[in-house]
Amino acid sequence: MAIPFLKSLFPTKSFLGVDIGTTTIKIVELKRSQGLPELLNYGLLESYGHLERINNAIQTSTLKLADRETTEFLKILLKYGGFKSREAVASIPAFASFTAMMELPLMSEKETSQAMQFQAKQYIPLPVSSVTIDWIKVDERLDQKGNAFQKILLVSVPNEQIQKYKTIFDGAGLNLTTLEIEGLSSARSITNRSDKTSLIVDIGARSTGISVARNGLLKFSGQTDFAGGSLTQTLATGLNIRARRAEDLKKQRGLKGIGGEYELSTLMLPILDVIINEVRRVRDDYERGYTDKIQQVILSGGGANLLGVGEYFQGELGLPTMKAGPFSQVSYSSEIEPLISDLSSEFPVAIGLAMRGFQ
Ligand SMILES: Nc1ncnc2c1ncn2[C@@H]1O[C@H](COP(=O)(O)OP(=O)(O)OP(=O)(O)O)[C@@H](O)[C@H]1O
Ligand SMILES: [Mg+2]
Repeated sequence: MAIPFLKSLFPTKSFLGVDIGTTTIKIVELKRSQGLPELLNYGLLESYGHLERINNAIQTSTLKLADRETTEFLKILLKYGGFKSREAVASIPAFASFTAMMELPLMSEKETSQAMQFQAKQYIPLPVSSVTIDWIKVDERLDQKGNAFQKILLVSVPNEQIQKYKTIFDGAGLNLTTLEIEGLSSARSITNRSDKTSLIVDIGARSTGISVARNGLLKFSGQTDFAGGSLTQTLATGLNIRARRAEDLKKQRGLKGIGGEYELSTLMLPILDVIINEVRRVRDDYERGYTDKIQQVILSGGGANLLGVGEYFQGELGLPTMKAGPFSQVSYSSEIEPLISDLSSEFPVAIGLAMRGFQ
């Protein structure tokens, strides 16, 4: 699946997984190895520029790093991080793509492909000529009469977005071999070899991606624009403080802290409730359309580090809730063992992308 607009012809030894988030760029370099892929290197660069803009931000889209800035950041990370490979796999955020779930009679891959070209038009809100379409079969079922059906996840990405990524990667001297939506990447690194149906909630800065995944494969996805940036914004407004200070308070004290006469949770819980309601909607939609039930919730993204967030999700959703553990998919030096727990939430997408390089 994904958007393989360029496929490298020669097997490469190591790959970069590059996750360009709204406020943070994460890169991991994985090397092919006999057992688990070997983690050669990783790096993260966070920009605080958006926090200066956040106070006037009407739409969170103003949080976005500009393309030129992104290229410069990438170059800095590559240079100082000592990454060796120039082969990169990158992700498209959920909010920059469009996904739809559809059901078709079961048929050959070739026939499905032809049917999709036709069907896609009805589902995509943009002219078909302006988007790149891809699809993935996520399930099969028999109806009561014994007819076989397949569930298809349709993904479309505006060509403009793809061009934008090519420009950014060209500018940074990287060979962009594959682009995929980030839900696929985190499904791969978080649920590989787990046959529990999991709901992955990726709380980023600008948006929260919600995916259902099992055995490393994405089954269903949703998204909301309420995320870490909204939490910072609500603290800044509620406590009448600058965004940068609100960001620090949020990171240091989380749901357990106090700011002025307020408990921070009083301000932040309403935002988390909006996210949780969207998670419930995705769970209900999934369980209506599939035969299995969601068994657990896995939190990822920087927002998963908010103190107390796991307990709150677990209480509200009534499902076992844990933090993502993508490093279990790679082998790494014992020197970084003490850091793993802190890095786990931030790296699922980048690790899943680099893993994709070997598939
Ligand atoms: N310890 C922490 N407690 C609370 N929030 C945190 C913590 N660490 C990071 N965050 C928040 O996580 C968010 C950044 O997460 P992440 O790096 O996953 O986002 P991103 O990938 O840049 O954004 P997006 O996925 O929306 O494009 C920010 O809102 C940041 O404030
Ligand atoms: Mg992200």
